Amino acid sequence: MSEKKNLWGGRFKARANEKFFKFNRSFDFDKRLFDADIKGCLGHCRGLEKAKALSSKESMQIQDGLNMLLEKSRSDEDFFVDDSAEDIHSFIESNLIEIIGDTGRKLHMGRSRNDQVATALRIWMREAIDETSDVIKNLQTDLIKLAENNLDVIIPGYTHLQRAQPILFPHWCLAYFEMLRRDAQRLMEIRVRVNVMPLGSAALAGTSYPIDRASVAEYLGFSEISRNSLDAVSDRDFCVDFVYTAALIMTHLSRLAEDIILYSTKEFGFFNLSDAVATGSSLMPQKKNPDSMELVRGKSARVFGDLVSLLAMLKSLPLAYNKDMQEDKEAVFDAFVSVYDCLEISSIVLNNLSINKDKTREAASKGYLNATELADYLARQGVSFRSAHEIAGKIVLRAIELGLELDEMNLHDMQNFSDQIREDVFDALSLNQTLKTKNAAGGTSEERVIEALEEAKVYLFGRKLT
Ligand code: ARG
Repeated sequence: MSEKKNLWGGRFKARANEKFFKFNRSFDFDKRLFDADIKGCLGHCRGLEKAKALSSKESMQIQDGLNMLLEKSRSDEDFFVDDSAEDIHSFIESNLIEIIGDTGRKLHMGRSRNDQVATALRIWMREAIDETSDVIKNLQTDLIKLAENNLDVIIPGYTHLQRAQPILFPHWCLAYFEMLRRDAQRLMEIRVRVNVMPLGSAALAGTSYPIDRASVAEYLGFSEISRNSLDAVSDRDFCVDFVYTAALIMTHLSRLAEDIILYSTKEFGFFNLSDAVATGSSLMPQKKNPDSMELVRGKSARVFGDLVSLLAMLKSLPLAYNKDMQEDKEAVFDAFVSVYDCLEISSIVLNNLSINKDKTREAASKGYLNATELADYLARQGVSFRSAHEIAGKIVLRAIELGLELDEMNLHDMQNFSDQIREDVFDALSLNQTLKTKNAAGGTSEERVIEALEEAKVYLFGRKLT
């Protein structure tokens, strides 16, 4: 630990215990905030200049210094190698002083690391939200591509993981598209609460310098300034919002992963995962394992853990800032990296997925997925739906005894259960007809699905693609 980096040594006679120094420092992980904190510093510097706390010459010197650091961080590989820095804020300040001299010592006037860190984290998070939204959009685009390349593929739809009713494969793609649409919407909603500037709250009581916070906020791209300094330095709701949203995205990706893992098994045989996203077994030569999707499913757990860590860390904290809050960053960064990577990997998996359309069609044709059609057929003849359901159930039971599908039974066998059944029942039971009837808005008929794909493209690209 070098003395020059210590920002608060005046009141201390002895140096920190070496082990405690390491325990206390956050530099190894909060260096991720470098760009955001430089930005915050530039904003604060301009605020001080406008408040006449810094001369324009001093302000220029500081701003040049900060920009030089930014430049150095891009060009000097070893820039962040520093085991003496306590955190990113002291790192920036001590480096600034090192390159511009004593004027650098004026920058911290009227602020505290408490409003500084909250500001930097919010600036960082705005970007993280925008980057996450971009990869969500990419994954949505890939789902639409996959759907359009497999427009005529029919798969069984499941409830309770039992074959239920046939659906178009693009309808399955669009289901995940909708989850991601809500996720993107949630990100935009939380961005509004993230984009509030705490800078100017100082340690807890507000700054004593006549800083025009609104103009600093405008410069930094914040849409509002915080209204209460005590709250502003201790509020980490925005972190919880972000990690919760990440956790829900992970839940959706984990469900997608589970479907893909399941449908790629020998037992289902619907999907073939590409070699590019699978691994082999060190022992069993025949194996091709869906590790990509298993890791996505597995990583959802750690993001849920991040969310619980944050909630537990915050729940008993007295106002205002407490060092416990330093623990917020690893949870937030971990959630971001996990969700970002998993969105990208899911895209790669989808782009390399092939569908065994004969196999899915066969699965959608076997297992009485058209039993509801039979009940509906009877209901259309005037039988009450409850009775129609009962009759169709009995016919299914008979078909199971005979080892036949409904459309393989002969008409007389069916007519034993209801004299309302006629030859045209076979049309009603056909796979195509089963799909065609699901024509209400949001349903799986070809007409509705094509309409939904068009709407999805307008949502994604703002116009119809031809
Ligand atoms: N590294 C600290 C954090 O992340 C910065 C704030 C330090 N403030 C303080 N009063 N010690 O929370």
